[in-house]
Amino acid sequence: MRVVSGIQPTGNLHLGNYLGAIRNWVRMQDSLSDGGTCLFFLADLHAISMPHDPAALRRATLEMAAALTACGIDPARSILFNQAQVPQHAELQWLLAGTARMGWLNRMTQWKDKAGKNREGASVALFTYPVLQAADVLLYQATHVPVGEDQKQHLELARDIAQKFNTDFAETFALPEPIVPPAAARIMSLRDGLAKMSKSDASDMARINLTDDVELVMQKVKKAKTDPEPLPSEPAGLAGRPEALNLVTIYAALADITPEAVLAEHGGQGFGTFKPRLGELLVETLRPISARFTELLADQHALDAILASGAAKARELAIPTLDATYRALGLVR
Ligand code: TRP
Repeated sequence: MRVVSGIQPTGNLHLGNYLGAIRNWVRMQDSLSDGGTCLFFLADLHAISMPHDPAALRRATLEMAAALTACGIDPARSILFNQAQVPQHAELQWLLAGTARMGWLNRMTQWKDKAGKNREGASVALFTYPVLQAADVLLYQATHVPVGEDQKQHLELARDIAQKFNTDFAETFALPEPIVPPAAARIMSLRDGLAKMSKSDASDMARINLTDDVELVMQKVKKAKTDPEPLPSEPAGLAGRPEALNLVTIYAALADITPEAVLAEHGGQGFGTFKPRLGELLVETLRPISARFTELLADQHALDAILASGAAKARELAIPTLDATYRALGLVR
């Protein structure tokens, strides 16, 4: 098994990032032990497809590396790096640009959403973003790619590119399989159960940051929007109650049990009882993570060393496939 996945370096990591993506990576790494290799990278090259501030990108990249490590990605077992230190990503992207079709990219919903009505003003990188993403995984002969539901389309495109390249030129790439975790916890805002928990929400009370201290976590949970009804004893009773559903989802994800099990235990409780329990569970999970995160961030040299060593390993794995791609295309080097 060759597991490859990337995440854009955003600052202000929160519970949604952790329960939605990062924790799945950690589990993947832990379940693999010696039956394969995991490569996890910060998609800093993807980040320049939107207007960005260079200093903020640099900082976010280091922060994300620290956060991933603090959450349990172990640089001794997994290859952790940032794209910018592995030039083979950008190189392969160009080689694949000859195979990707305009029509395929035009159908990408992320492109349509992000470009909106202003396609003429969007960057070329935003349009070719999925080709770089295909290069990210094909470069390593990835077999499994853990992603959220929203990235499945990009993975299908990567398979289409690989398939066409293999038929048009020479058998070069493995076809990567997306793995969308069945219970990918969709964590919503604490102020609005219909909006995703987001780093860009104007209210900090809407999210639990990985760096929030105990008091702040308890306060945010206490102030989280709810309704006056007690918890139902079965999930069906959460219909039309998005805020209640969100708190139950968070509890279930943290305790690693089903929503049914949460409600079997807490059904009938009012939020005055349930919220403190949820707060304790959150604090228990986040305390070690945020302690390790702060420690790592304070040691820039250690972080740089982690990324440099991950990038060296990644380059080594990337070179044979990149060479084969040049050769298949008749490019003499
Ligand atoms: N586009 C992905 C996202 O926004 C991040 C990403 C970049 C990625 N390259 C990847 C994910 C390769 C999986 C595999 O979430």
